[in-house]
Amino acid sequence: MLEVRELTKTFESPAGPVQVLCGLTLELEEGGGVAVLAPGGSGKSTLLQILGTLDRPTSGTVLLGGEDPFALDDEAQARFRNERVGFVFQDHCLLPQLTVMENVMVPLMIGAEDTMGPERARKLLTEVGLADKVNDRPVQLTAGEKQRAAIARALVRGPRLLLCDEPTGSLDNKTAHEVAELLEKVRQEHKLTLVVATHDPVVAAKLPRRVLLTDGRL
Ligand SMILES: Nc1ncnc2c1ncn2[C@@H]1O[C@H](COP(=O)(O)OP(=O)(O)OP(=O)(O)O)[C@@H](O)[C@H]1O
Ligand SMILES: [Mg+2]
Repeated sequence: MLEVRELTKTFESPAGPVQVLCGLTLELEEGGGVAVLAPGGSGKSTLLQILGTLDRPTSGTVLLGGEDPFALDDEAQARFRNERVGFVFQDHCLLPQLTVMENVMVPLMIGAEDTMGPERARKLLTEVGLADKVNDRPVQLTAGEKQRAAIARALVRGPRLLLCDEPTGSLDNKTAHEVAELLEKVRQEHKLTLVVATHDPVVAAKLPRRVLLTDGRL
């Protein structure tokens, strides 16, 4: 279960403090899925960065599976993030010099060596529809295929929470909707909790629940 209570985030800027999140509250059951719909600049990325412990809230609490990641020391928090959270961004962030398969295994290089890595990467790539692309380089893939590879990479450590920040923002409509369908399929099959930030209502419609982020609240 993901529980967010009275979350606020204020950035300092030369023009003074900017309050982006203003007492935001969200409850999402284990294995649930929600689309956060919002126009540009309304705090979607800020929210996802905090849910993924890439940034700290100014105030408020985040509980994931009953645990407060911001109460952990830096090392435990990094472990929490590596083991429990997967990220998909608008840009796929694949490394061009590596094959698709090697890209998917990159997260496994953090921490203990994992002899099951290649098998797991291949299985995930098959699941996202890239079985015949494992040895290609990212440059050989279409935009939609690159995002599929990024989804496989996000899953390789078996996260409980998958955070997607405009995962279809660089895709044409048809491909965007296919990728959104894939994310929803992955949520169900991996029984993970899914949060997708998007400004596309058709993408949002693929998820079981939608919330609107305005004025720093949902
Ligand atoms: N590190 C920062 N320092 C100062 N202001 C920031 C910082 N990060 C974000 N902001 C401000 O917070 C607000 C929300 O930004 P955020 O990137 O979360 O919005 P968004 O909904 O993801 O936008 P987009 O749709 O463009 O991706 C913006 O006004 C932005 O300028
Ligand atoms: Mg953003």
